[in-house]
Amino acid sequence: MAVVQTWNTAELVAQDQAHLLHPLSNLRALREHGPLVMVRGEDVFLWDSDGKRYIDAFAGLWNVNVGHGRAELAEAAAAQIREVEFVPTFFGLASPPPIELAARLAGLFPGDLNHFQFTAGGAESNETALKIARYYWWLKGQPEKVTILSRKMAYHGIAMGALAATGIPAYHEGFGPQAPGYLHLTPPYHYRHSEGMSEDEFVASLVRELEETIAREGAHTIAAMIGEPVQGAGGVVVPPDRYWAAIAPVLKAHDILLIFDEVICGFGRTGAMFGMQQYGVTPDIVSFAKGVTSGYVPLGGVGVSDEVFDALSTPDRMFMHGFTYSGHPVSCAVALPNIDIIERERLPENAGRGGAYLLAALHDRLDGHPHVGNVRGKGLMLFVEVVADTATKARLDPSFNLSARLTAASRERGIIVRPVNDGIAISPPLTIQQPELDVVADAIAGSIDEVFS
Ligand SMILES: Cc1ncc(COP(=O)(O)O)c(C=O)c1O
Repeated sequence: MAVVQTWNTAELVAQDQAHLLHPLSNLRALREHGPLVMVRGEDVFLWDSDGKRYIDAFAGLWNVNVGHGRAELAEAAAAQIREVEFVPTFFGLASPPPIELAARLAGLFPGDLNHFQFTAGGAESNETALKIARYYWWLKGQPEKVTILSRKMAYHGIAMGALAATGIPAYHEGFGPQAPGYLHLTPPYHYRHSEGMSEDEFVASLVRELEETIAREGAHTIAAMIGEPVQGAGGVVVPPDRYWAAIAPVLKAHDILLIFDEVICGFGRTGAMFGMQQYGVTPDIVSFAKGVTSGYVPLGGVGVSDEVFDALSTPDRMFMHGFTYSGHPVSCAVALPNIDIIERERLPENAGRGGAYLLAALHDRLDGHPHVGNVRGKGLMLFVEVVADTATKARLDPSFNLSARLTAASRERGIIVRPVNDGIAISPPLTIQQPELDVVADAIAGSIDEVFS
């Protein structure tokens, strides 16, 4: 008989308040109110330490793509630990899981993204991608080609290089000086940047800005442009369909590498296996993490094209980049059956279908609301943008504390989402079905009504 563990919530909360330093949290508020402690998960559901059930409508942190509680992933991890828990990929060593995973990914990614190095997460993956881009040009005899183009509202992680690429000011405040050599372009965020323009005109204006930037800086100084196919943490910025197809040739014409950050988009979330497939553009370098193991164990990585790999494979140098956990056998051993599940259960298709359903359900409930400025999404990454005034699109004053109010209201209704200061990001496991999507849409609409009542 299964033993159900019981938890002492008061004791856990007290220890948390005394000792755990939480990321992306108001530490003062947590010291006063304590955390919400989750003790169990199954499919789209989480249970807290008092036994209350929630729909995890943020899939952990956009990462639990196959849903919680998959026994086969637990078994894969346990089997690998029994066999051999750790072998590095440094110094020409390897173990079977990273070899098998690299081969599997070469077959999955479009184009000739055929060569992979693994990391322990998204920021490490982007550090790797950015360093490879610079190293590539250095090896090609162009050491001055170092600038990285990124975009405002981009999120690429919080290690120093990835942070410099990140275009959300709140992540930078107090952590300076920033790493030099990064420029941020206008994001393809039509709700706020395309006033008076058709979609084509908007795309043309973004391409013009890119061309002007290249002309001003000189292509000989720019190594790469990094971008999420759909920007996530910045507020789920879904680009116009033609955006990437218009940007990519400009980069190519100026010998600037394209890096796609698939950390959120990858492994099904947008409704295709990879976000890049939604836009028909293959980059030179790709970074990924999150959905590759659905968060069961930490793993990330980068893929590079044949051309980049050839350039890196010089006879006279070692590739002096990598982390202790590059190619961790246990993480890679979990990634393989996780990808099996994503393919077997056709989760990208479900994300496309479920995402379209949830987007329509949110529009149904929220269109015309005096504080809902925009509802947008691609697959199962969605955003409800909340404003002070829909006519002027004025943002709410931060002192209104929208995020804390929406957090309380949505948790009260039994859903976990990610409220931020201008709205709610939604990103459930890709297994979610219609009845739970209706609960999520109702809870979000109810939470927004409550906050403004
Ligand atoms: C697009 C993107 N890139 C990179 C990262 C950083 O990943 P990690 O937190 O695993 O370092 C994130 C995290 O949310 C992300 O959304």
